[in-house]
Amino acid sequence: MRVILLGTAAGGGFPQWNCACALCARCHRGELPARSQECAAVSGNGRDWWLLNASPDVRTQILATPALAPGPGPRDTPVRGVLLTDAEVDHALGLTVMRGSASLAVYAATPVLDALTADLPLRGLLDRYAPWQWRDSTAPSGFELAGGLTVTAHPVSAKAPKYVGSPDPDAPWVSAYRVEDAATGGALVYAPCLATWPDGFDDLLASASCALVDGTFFSADELGTAVSSEDAGQYLMGHVPVAGPGGSLAALARHPGLRRIYTHLNNTNPLLDRSSSASAAVRRAGAEILAEGSELVL
Ligand code: MLT
Ligand code: MN
Ligand code: ZN
Repeated sequence: MRVILLGTAAGGGFPQWNCACALCARCHRGELPARSQECAAVSGNGRDWWLLNASPDVRTQILATPALAPGPGPRDTPVRGVLLTDAEVDHALGLTVMRGSASLAVYAATPVLDALTADLPLRGLLDRYAPWQWRDSTAPSGFELAGGLTVTAHPVSAKAPKYVGSPDPDAPWVSAYRVEDAATGGALVYAPCLATWPDGFDDLLASASCALVDGTFFSADELGTAVSSEDAGQYLMGHVPVAGPGGSLAALARHPGLRRIYTHLNNTNPLLDRSSSASAAVRRAGAEILAEGSELVL
């Protein structure tokens, strides 16, 4: 299986258009690499490609990726569909960029499909350009993707998008995906949105060779210190921090044989700077931050 990191920043990207925090300012000056909003592509055969989330940056991301180039026919594309981990704007809005693409399949959990029908009504809108196949991703036996991949979805949190008026607080709003290549046995866990370390997640990681994990915030007080924000508490509740006793880095240390990569980095996150002490701590613990466009073979 090939996995290409198309985007590795959280909502808004890095730098964020309306942010002049110290990190964004350094990025504007060319001192730190910009990052686009989180999205990845997977393929079992190098011909049929599936996107994990569809970020608003998906057009630029696809154009920058030779494996996703259109052809051989004038309207052919190797992109067969999209697997959504949730209904957040930064993960779903790229679908509008792909409007009109013939017979695309979109997999998501039921609350996500419902939100994209009613609250952010992309589904009806997109089907008027070209009918797509909207599929429930959560069947316990999983589903097969063209190219030799087997996928299972795993509910990881009940964090609903802010735009949903009265969300069911217990619904499985956010999933992680386990994608396995039957031919190689390689398995990827894709979990860019973790509110807490979920029950059963250690078992899921134990069944994988590589994990792409929520790295939104390095520390629990990050939003309050990097930029003053009334939303700080609410946002942090939606993303487990990397550092600290309850953080993801300590939990990932229980899986030394697993390739552990952070994605969905917020513009406030010191991991955006390779020379930061935070980045050094992540490397010492055996986890990685990769450049956009990086490819993994599992
Ligand atoms: C999140 O990851 O918490 C959301 O995507 C926030 C946002 O709306 O950008
Ligand atoms: Mn996000
Ligand atoms: Zn910033």
